[in-house]
Amino acid sequence: MQDEGETPGAMEIARDRMMLVHRLKALRRAGARVGFVPTMGALHDGHVSLVDIAASKADFTIASIFVNPRQFAPGEDLATYPRTEDEDCVMLEKAGCNLVYLPAVRDIYRDDCATGLLMGGPAAGLESLARPHFFGGVALVVLKLLNQIQPDFAVFGEKDYQQLLVVRALVRDLDLPVEILAGPTLRAADGLALSSRNAFLSVDERARAPALHEALLHAASMIAGGTMPQEAEDSARARILAAGFSGVDYVAVRRAGDLSGFGDKGVDAPARILAAARLGGVRLIDNVAASALRLPPAPLTH
Ligand code: PAF
Repeated sequence: MQDEGETPGAMEIARDRMMLVHRLKALRRAGARVGFVPTMGALHDGHVSLVDIAASKADFTIASIFVNPRQFAPGEDLATYPRTEDEDCVMLEKAGCNLVYLPAVRDIYRDDCATGLLMGGPAAGLESLARPHFFGGVALVVLKLLNQIQPDFAVFGEKDYQQLLVVRALVRDLDLPVEILAGPTLRAADGLALSSRNAFLSVDERARAPALHEALLHAASMIAGGTMPQEAEDSARARILAAGFSGVDYVAVRRAGDLSGFGDKGVDAPARILAAARLGGVRLIDNVAASALRLPPAPLTH
């Protein structure tokens, strides 16, 4: 789906909204199925795997790199968030991305932008406890990018499981004509989930970091064996702290479909165990799937 005069296979770069709009017009005329992967850059193999999914299902794959100021609170790491645009573009091109959108803040937010979003449902609790502004900012930028690009589908990583469900709720509640696909979490050989923020870990912290995933897997095995959520959560929290993490923001066993809690009934539906924990100055999040192994009811003996 190249414009006349372009090198076949070369990734295009749209540095502002006008360039994007121009290119999208040609794509629509050609009837291309457009796949979209939104990112904040500092790309790693986890992002590449999302682009791979998009490229395998789309005629034309678009990725965006935009460090969204609306999802950072004052004092968070907006200023120091890693920015590696040149390397990112090389990775995207290799992964089969056809166009990268690199908007400036003014392409996304007018100075007088008066609209914000308040997300409920899956946005409640967990990440929102530590970062109450976060999902409103994510939902707003995702809505704006989806409106600007109007892709047929967009791909989000399960690594940010709560974000994935928030985006699904946004699309459902606002009747957005886009399909949301999930990409599995990519991990290093020792189990640490790939994340742009891993770059901030010291050598010692990097060696301790896989304990987060190990604790979640152990909690999942407890749930599979019939343990109640609270006990599995307490066990994971203790393991994470014993590994040298400085704090645990949350460990929570929740319903995988909507992140509601299980209450006193135990795990009676597919679950997700989600955690956020701090290692030195770095806040890591991770999650794993869990389910209780249901044994057939014991036969009556009388
Ligand atoms: O997951 C991210 O990188 C960001 O939250 C997203 C979805 C690109 C929105 O800024």
